[in-house]
Amino acid sequence: MMLRMRTRPVLVLLLLSLGLIGAQQQALMDYLERRLQAIEDRISLWHEQTSRYASELREVKQQMVSQLEALEKNKEGLRGELDGLGGRVGRVEREMDYLETQKEAQPCVDVDDKLVEQQVIVAREKNKLKYAKLSGCTDMLSGVKGMKVLKRLGDSKGMWTKDLSSGSGKVYVFNGTADDTLYQFSSVRDFTSSQGTALATPLKLPARWSGTGHALYKGHAYFMEEGADLRLLKVSLSDGSLVDSSVLPLPDLVSAYALTPDTAVDLAVDEEGLWAIYATQQDQRHLCLAKMDSDTLAITQMWTTPCPRENSEAAFVVCGTVYVVYNSRLPGRSRVQCVFDVGEMSAADEAPLAYFPRRQGSHSSLKYSPQERLLYAWDQGYQILYKLTMRSKLEV
Ligand SMILES: *[C@@H]1O[C@H](CO)[C@@H](O)[C@H](O)[C@H]1NC(C)=O
Repeated sequence: MMLRMRTRPVLVLLLLSLGLIGAQQQALMDYLERRLQAIEDRISLWHEQTSRYASELREVKQQMVSQLEALEKNKEGLRGELDGLGGRVGRVEREMDYLETQKEAQPCVDVDDKLVEQQVIVAREKNKLKYAKLSGCTDMLSGVKGMKVLKRLGDSKGMWTKDLSSGSGKVYVFNGTADDTLYQFSSVRDFTSSQGTALATPLKLPARWSGTGHALYKGHAYFMEEGADLRLLKVSLSDGSLVDSSVLPLPDLVSAYALTPDTAVDLAVDEEGLWAIYATQQDQRHLCLAKMDSDTLAITQMWTTPCPRENSEAAFVVCGTVYVVYNSRLPGRSRVQCVFDVGEMSAADEAPLAYFPRRQGSHSSLKYSPQERLLYAWDQGYQILYKLTMRSKLEV
């Protein structure tokens, strides 16, 4: 009984406490649920934030990229300006050099011989692939020293020269820019002492020439026929007979030199043989050079030179290097201001700024005589000889 009496409250207590535990459990569950919810909320907030950060980061990156690009462009612009400045400084330096030589001051140059040798060897290796030289000639122009006005004959435009490659000392005169009679003087003395063409033997050609770009080589005259599109004629100098002709496989041309509009193609002779200088309609800003085979009249190799056509007046070739002569529309002092070496042994920026002796004139032709190292010039009706000074390309 006692036991029974005592058991009841215990049971009640037990039940009560069980109820309590149940309530506590519920509360715990609720609490945990709330916590989980809060954590979930926070996680989704983080999610949002990270994706926002990521997209912001992407935007920033894009901005950086475009800014970098803009910077790169600015850099290029600056570099271009610097290059331009460099060129100008180079020109001023060359002009100063020229003034120095006028003062006869000997510049003191100290060059590392080994370095020079290496550069030359590299240039020669390239040379082998590019242009096979026919002569062993390595001279380059160092200046134009001395001038002799020999005569005043004929038109303001024309061409005169000798053909020493044939062993004859005769002087040939192509008067004007379109004619078919060549004047032949037996010597320079005859030429200078002749009253006009009195002492000359006229040589009638099979066609009229055009311009002043003719060349004499090994007993033949080479010239472009007037009115015939790019027809090159090869005529015997002994009797004026036509030996060969060829239409040059060149695209549409403009006059070779901006200041000498009558000459479409300028033919030149040097130690290597026959060359043609011209300019195409596609690239009117630069001069082109072609090596010709004087036997077949074929073009064997062509180059686009870096030499500008603007203000060019004439050009001549010495040892496989073309020297372009510039002047101004109002005839001033002619000067060699661009050089292009097909053997790549001398770079264009090594160009000697060689001034022609002081004279206000314009050259309608400048013909190089390899045997005499003279230029035969036609300057507004005056026939002039210029003496060239050379140095070896191997020394700097
Ligand atoms: C030279 O050519 C011009 C025309 O271009 C002509 O008037 C002149 O008579 C010619 N002179 C000689 C010496 O042939």
